[in-house]
Amino acid sequence: MFIDTHCHLEDENFSADRTEVVERAKLAGVAQIINFGSTHESSAAVTELTKNFPELFAGVGIHPEEIDGFDENSCARLAELAAEKKVVAIGEIGLDYHWEKDSERRLIQQKIFIAQLDLARQLNLPVCVHDRDAHGDTLKILQTEARGLRGVLHCYSGSLEISREVFKLDWFIGVDGPLTFKNSAKLPEVVKAAPRDKILIETDAPYLAPVPFRGKRNEPAYVVEVAKKLAELRGETLEEVAAYTSANAKNLYSI
Ligand code: NI
Repeated sequence: MFIDTHCHLEDENFSADRTEVVERAKLAGVAQIINFGSTHESSAAVTELTKNFPELFAGVGIHPEEIDGFDENSCARLAELAAEKKVVAIGEIGLDYHWEKDSERRLIQQKIFIAQLDLARQLNLPVCVHDRDAHGDTLKILQTEARGLRGVLHCYSGSLEISREVFKLDWFIGVDGPLTFKNSAKLPEVVKAAPRDKILIETDAPYLAPVPFRGKRNEPAYVVEVAKKLAELRGETLEEVAAYTSANAKNLYSI
């Protein structure tokens, strides 16, 4: 059994065949799926989806590329959604310096990230963090502002050194389709060195489909390809990878 710990089934790419996508995931052995919001609207949508599918859980939050939608009522609105029983996390939240080059706006991203970390602490929920080209500042914020919180650096793309700091904080890394790419850079080295109790598998569907589906729409069934690659790199069986990544997901998200 596998758990896809990060995807976006509320996305309009799934409007026509969402039920079939969930069915295909189940047939592939993917028993549970966690969808993450990035705006108020998508956070409400992923929460609503949990009511229609027993396999689905949700995280709610404002993504760093969506900070214009964050205001003084945002944390209260997210808290209201988080009161629903199958909302298991705050996310995805964090920093994205790939698309944001303006230093003032990067500071606003940091403030909003920290405000949502505080919300997670108040609600006693784990956190799913987006970090794109912002590894240094993300780590600094986790070290100084995330005390008492647990979470995952989703779609991990940092260095081996940073992964060690993440593990010291007792946080997880999320591994996605890019692990299967030819240009996977540092990621194979990171996953080979990672403790098995710190690895989660994800698709981030509809984005980042793994080989052999690269370039197509991604979906939760394909998380098995990520697990296969992990098994190959770490010299483990697929069954072992399924067992420990699922145990880790249950441990972090209480699903
Ligand atoms: Ni995502």
